[in-house]
Amino acid sequence: MEFENIIVEAEEGIQYITINRPSKLNALNKATIKELHEAFKDAETDKEIKVVIISGSGEKAFIAGADISEFADFSTEEGRQLSAEGHDILFDYVENFPKPVIAAINGFALGGGLELAMAAHFRIASENAKMGLPEVSLGLIPGYGGTQRLSQLVGKGRAMEMIMTAGMIDANQALQYNLVNHVTPQEELIEFAEKIAEKIMNNSMVAISAAIKAINANFEKSVDGFEIEIKEFGKAFGTEDFKEGTSAFLNKRKADFPGK
Ligand code: COA
Repeated sequence: MEFENIIVEAEEGIQYITINRPSKLNALNKATIKELHEAFKDAETDKEIKVVIISGSGEKAFIAGADISEFADFSTEEGRQLSAEGHDILFDYVENFPKPVIAAINGFALGGGLELAMAAHFRIASENAKMGLPEVSLGLIPGYGGTQRLSQLVGKGRAMEMIMTAGMIDANQALQYNLVNHVTPQEELIEFAEKIAEKIMNNSMVAISAAIKAINANFEKSVDGFEIEIKEFGKAFGTEDFKEGTSAFLNKRKADFPGK
């Protein structure tokens, strides 16, 4: 598929997905959300792809939020649908994506931008990054999972303050809040993300998918995360990756996982 709003490149097991509307600070319009969905779908089915790194083009923004010009005259029903569809095709999809998704936050990550970064499995920020959920300054609330995921990551009190004040925090404060795992100079951001991706790719991708499922289960009210862990742990014993991983360890050699 041809993309107009994103750039998709693959190299050595990594799919780089870059939002590319720099003149609009990479704001997420509906078309971009659809393209992101397609790009993630391609990454899911492509056996060569093991890790996804998502970032924004230019030096100023990761994503400066949902595209405000697109929903300025929406009705309540259109607003509800915008949120529901976004959850469905992108934000929940990314959170439950079976391959690791790393958000490399290279500048402003606001509103839907921070929400997408929070849906990713973990985040790395460049020193110039600024993060916030400013929706209440527009008479809205976060609608792509922000009220839930920000609380999970930074705790309820900090999420309340960030959302109520509509303020931004810088990369170091985000690090202190556990919103991001690492902060790097901007020019080293992607390289840093790649180093982590490489470490991940040494391991069993089948086991990693199972771990994503089990970790995410902790945040779902309707399921017991411990039960999911027990089930996924058991299932792992039936995989070829398990046979290879244990045999490599016992024979003192490096594992070469078949990914099955
Ligand atoms: N939706 C639509 N357009 C956006 C946008 C968004 N969320 N964020 C930035 N843009 C556009 C601006 O309208 C401007 O377009 P123009 O040049 O055609 O006028 C362009 O991107 C550059 O933004 P600008 O505001 O001029 O840059 P700045 O450096 O002065 O300010 C921000 C940067 C991020 C502080 C500011 O753009 C901003 O507050 N954006 C909105 C953030 C927001 O509320 N997001 C949540 C949406 S729910």
